[in-house]
Amino acid sequence: MTSPSEQLSLRDGSVLVTGATGGIGRAIVELLSKRGTTVFAAGRSKAALEALVESTSGHVIPLQYDVTDEKSVKEAFRSIQKQQLEPNVGMLVGLVNNAGEMKEAPLLASNMDLLKHQLNVNFLSAYQHMQLASRLMARSRHGAIVNVVSQIGEQGNAGLSAYAASKAALTGATKSLAKELAPIGIRVNAVAPGFIETELTAHYDDAQRERIFSRIALKKAGSAELVAQAIVFLLDDASNYTTGHVLPVDGLFQP
Ligand SMILES: NC(=O)c1ccc[n+]([C@@H]2O[C@H](COP(=O)([O-])OP(=O)(O)OC[C@H]3O[C@@H](n4cnc5c(N)ncnc54)[C@H](OP(=O)(O)O)[C@@H]3O)[C@@H](O)[C@H]2O)c1
Repeated sequence: MTSPSEQLSLRDGSVLVTGATGGIGRAIVELLSKRGTTVFAAGRSKAALEALVESTSGHVIPLQYDVTDEKSVKEAFRSIQKQQLEPNVGMLVGLVNNAGEMKEAPLLASNMDLLKHQLNVNFLSAYQHMQLASRLMARSRHGAIVNVVSQIGEQGNAGLSAYAASKAALTGATKSLAKELAPIGIRVNAVAPGFIETELTAHYDDAQRERIFSRIALKKAGSAELVAQAIVFLLDDASNYTTGHVLPVDGLFQP
């Protein structure tokens, strides 16, 4: 007999990816599209979303909103709820909370607004997305959520305490929600990238890169494509006995 969680596959359903116009986001959209999955691609910039749809061969549906705007997030899910019933879209079977921002801010020079902003972008928005996605997935008793956290949230980094706290909060929610949502067929995992070449890390100069690479066992940066492969594995039924885990994609980061 087929269990509810085996009735829908990644290929038949749709996946929402936030931060879809960023480095890791574009790689996730590309990979899912190649596999025949419909992707709801969420981003803030209309032009960047249009360019993404143009450059991807698969079925990509753009959703333009700021992940910290609670009303817009609800509106986006209402749109997904309607569109998922269309035969060429398919039920929402996956969510990737990938949108994120990293602000350097040593404690003595920081302020509460910056801390709140980091928590809003990296944690609270992801939490709201998990709640709304789970309500849709609960109906088919099938779904996989992947949160993009960070090695900095696992191990800490001077000057990045607000960012680290926001990512550590998301890791904690991942582990708790995996237990809470397992009975209704929803898996929740996280991927923790180390140093990945994207716009987020583009400001590091050669000297800073050398210092960082000296602390990585594999002595180099990772690519957005490698992170996307780990995320798609955790969305896919190939990992349907894995939940509540954090998968590092970091070349073995050594603090
Ligand atoms: N690169 C790394 O080394 C690294 C390491 C560990 C974890 N990560 C995590 O990986 C994720 C993706 O990062 P990335 O490296 O691909 O960086 P990126 O290229 O800067 O992409 C970040 C994405 O998040 C979006 N975003 C930020 N704030 C948003 C908001 N308020 N509403 C909607 N979208 C928002 C950005 O949209 P806009 O284009 O509109 O700004 C962008 O598409 C992030 O969560 C990051 O913390 C990255």
